Amino acid sequence: MSEPTESTPEATPEISEATVDAAVDAATAAIEGAADSAALRAVRAAHTGEHSPLARLNATLRTVAPENKAASGKLVGQGRARVNQAFAAREAEVLAAEASAQLEAERVDVTAAADRHPMGARHPLSLLQDAVSDVFIGMGWEIAEGPEVESEWFNFDALNFDADHPARAMQDTFFIDPPEAHLVMRTHTSPVQVRAMLERDLPIYVLAPGRVFRTDELDATHTPVFMQFEGLAVDKGLTMAHLRGTLEHFVQAIFGEGARVRLRPSYFPFTEPSAELDFWHPTFKDGPRWIEWGGCGMINPNVLRSAGIDPEVYSGFAFGMGVERGLMLRNDVQDMRDMVEGDVRFSQQFGMVV
Ligand code: PHE
Repeated sequence: MSEPTESTPEATPEISEATVDAAVDAATAAIEGAADSAALRAVRAAHTGEHSPLARLNATLRTVAPENKAASGKLVGQGRARVNQAFAAREAEVLAAEASAQLEAERVDVTAAADRHPMGARHPLSLLQDAVSDVFIGMGWEIAEGPEVESEWFNFDALNFDADHPARAMQDTFFIDPPEAHLVMRTHTSPVQVRAMLERDLPIYVLAPGRVFRTDELDATHTPVFMQFEGLAVDKGLTMAHLRGTLEHFVQAIFGEGARVRLRPSYFPFTEPSAELDFWHPTFKDGPRWIEWGGCGMINPNVLRSAGIDPEVYSGFAFGMGVERGLMLRNDVQDMRDMVEGDVRFSQQFGMVV
């Protein structure tokens, strides 16, 4: 691309065929050499703009003798017309080339195989938790929730734990700083019992599924974060027979018709009497047998009282079970770590149910 020669202001060019041709030739050469529309715009500014040779020749028309004005004007005018034509022609070429380059660059191969996005799957713990919830919703129960960062009062005191109960100790419970806030990561879903009793009108039939936390190392049978579901019923005249019947219906819904429930005496501060809950698993892979799966009992009158409910009028039962353990039992999962590590290949074995 040939640049226009910047002449000094005082060197006024003469209008002649030679000077006009020189300016036009320089301009057309630069126009032909412009490779793209941006270069072409720069060339145009340089060769037809204010300080271009042609513009300066045009400016000298003022000083041309009147008898030469027409001829000189025609020379300059024709020169400018030639440059404009060259510009228009080159512009058409350059724009066409750019348009086809863009089409080529943006070309889409409609026959190419699509990227395969592997389907996700809901986590089997969520699926089991939903299945459990559905059983209780089917009986007219409601779902209740509470916070995972819980006040010590709900997690322990209101549930009749002594101040020095071992479950409060540092080795089981994650305490939240500062200690005077008396906040813990809830160690079980039982605090939702108290919240439900304080918030809801009687009678109460609620299921509270949720995450709980204990200071366990992650290994094949322990995880510091796991899930429980808590059942709570408070009504007039509830007995242990209601608890048993409810549990029996529940395990049959989850494990099949042949499932049975067995209660073994146990101790929890918030239930009295308390029991360990076993169920007869009819299709367990090693043959039918009793499997231990959680705790239950009649609500301790102290707990009813701490929620403002008169134990002379109302009674209640509660139960709590671990979802992970339920999944291990139901689906023969051997290693708890598989459940928490989040590898989608684990979840996918349980199907694509959404
Ligand atoms: N919260 C108890 C636990 O985590 C289980 C439980 C719930 C026991 C309700 C009795 C009644 O071990």
